[in-house]
Amino acid sequence: MCRANGADVVTHACAHELDGQERARLHRGGCYGLCDLGPNIVVRRRNSDLDVDADRLTLSEADNEFVSCGVGPPDVPELLSSFLVDDQPLLRLSRAVKESQLPARSTIEARMRVLRRQRRPAP
Ligand code: FES
Repeated sequence: MCRANGADVVTHACAHELDGQERARLHRGGCYGLCDLGPNIVVRRRNSDLDVDADRLTLSEADNEFVSCGVGPPDVPELLSSFLVDDQPLLRLSRAVKESQLPARSTIEARMRVLRRQRRPAP
């Protein structure tokens, strides 16, 4: 679903933006179960305790993981700069903000969102 919504172009924009950058690595992910919000970009900060999870293709909900949703190619420079220069996520594309903007299309979808929120660890 993310691919149908432009994930390939977003990936190319990321590769272009990160070309020559040694502080970040780009991996193509899989389906994160956030299909109604995609294309999604998952950024994980590396640290010695969590390095083992840095390349996983599923969400870990760990403190070093940030999910940006509904990302388009024009968003990529600002999104990557927010992490690499400002060392913080771009809030307007954060999963929480994007989920709050999504209208519930059915009771099943609304229930799935509640369940996803319940699975997240408390901040
Ligand atoms: S296809 Fe992108 S999250 Fe499922």
